[in-house]
Amino acid sequence: MAIPVIDFSKLNSGESRAETLAQIANGCEEWGFFQLVNHGISDVLLERVKRVCEECFKMEREEKFYKSTAMNLLNELGQKNNGDKLEDADWEDVFTLMDGAEWPSNTPGFKETMGEYRTELKKLAEKIMEVMDENLGLPKGNIKTAFNCGVEDNGNGNSNGNEAFFGTKVSHYPPCPHPELVNGLRAHTDAGGVILLFQDDNVGGLQILKDGKWIDVQPIPNAIVINTGDQIEVLSNGRYKSVWHRVLVGTSGNRRSIASFYNPSLKATIAPAPELLLVEKSADQDHKHLDQIYPKFVFGDYMSVYAKQKFLPKEPRFQAVVRAV
Ligand SMILES: [Fe+2]
Repeated sequence: MAIPVIDFSKLNSGESRAETLAQIANGCEEWGFFQLVNHGISDVLLERVKRVCEECFKMEREEKFYKSTAMNLLNELGQKNNGDKLEDADWEDVFTLMDGAEWPSNTPGFKETMGEYRTELKKLAEKIMEVMDENLGLPKGNIKTAFNCGVEDNGNGNSNGNEAFFGTKVSHYPPCPHPELVNGLRAHTDAGGVILLFQDDNVGGLQILKDGKWIDVQPIPNAIVINTGDQIEVLSNGRYKSVWHRVLVGTSGNRRSIASFYNPSLKATIAPAPELLLVEKSADQDHKHLDQIYPKFVFGDYMSVYAKQKFLPKEPRFQAVVRAV
C-alpha cells in the first residue's frame, strides 16, 4: 500500500483532466495525503532549495541542535536505560519562515532561494485549493476566500490581518543515537488548510495512519507531498479528512523536510460550506435535517486550543473551540 502519486501536469490536458481530478479527489477523500509529480516547480529551483537548506543546517543549526534540551534528555535516558521513553519532545531541528519575520541570514543564497520557493509553493497551494473547490462542487475560489476572511482576491492584496497565512517550516531530523527512545515528530493532525511538503530524496521516516496501520510516505525525489489539515476537513464537512501522521528517526541520514502551510487568517470564520451540508428529506418536507457535524468558529480560537492539544485526538478540539467562542 503506497500513498497515491499523481501527475499534476495532466490536469492541463483535455483528455486526462477528468481522470486527474478524480485521482486528486480520491487522494483527498481516501488518504488525506498524496504526492504530486510534474507539479510545475522546476528541478533547478528544488535543487537550490536542497542545497541552501543543507548548508543552513550545517552553518547555523547543527551545533545548537546537539546542545539542545532534547539531545541532553535523550542522552540521560540512554544512560539510565530503564525503559523510559522521551514522550514530550521531538528529535527535530525546526524553524519557520514567514513574511515580515527574521530569516537565517548567514547562509549564502538562502533568503533569495527560499523567497522564490515560497512564491512558487503559494501559487501551487492556490491551484490545489481550486481543484478541491471543483471536486467538491464549490464555486471557484471558495476555499481561498474563506481563508482570507471572505475577501476575494482582486489582485490588490488583502490587509488588516484578513489575509491567509503562508508559512514554511524547515525541519531536519539528524541521525539519532537512540531512535527507540524518541519520535522525530509525535503523531498529530495538522491544524491548518493545505500543506505542501518537500521531503528528503532518500531518508524516509514520515508515516501516515491509514485504516489503523502506519504506512510510509515513500520518498520520491522532487515530488511535493500534499496533505489536508483540520480546516479543510471542517470546510468540506468531513468529505476530506485531516489524517494522523508522524516522523520516525533513524541512526543514519539527516532527513530534510520543508513543509509549507496555506492556513486561514487567524480572524477567518471557518465552517462547513453550506453546499456540502447534507439535507435529510423526510416525507414531511417541513422537517429537513441539516447534517452539520462540525461547528463554526474563528480560526484563531481553534489555534489557541490546538496549541495545547496538538498531539491529542482532533475531535475534542472541535468541541473545545465552540466553548471558547
Ligand atoms: Fe504535520
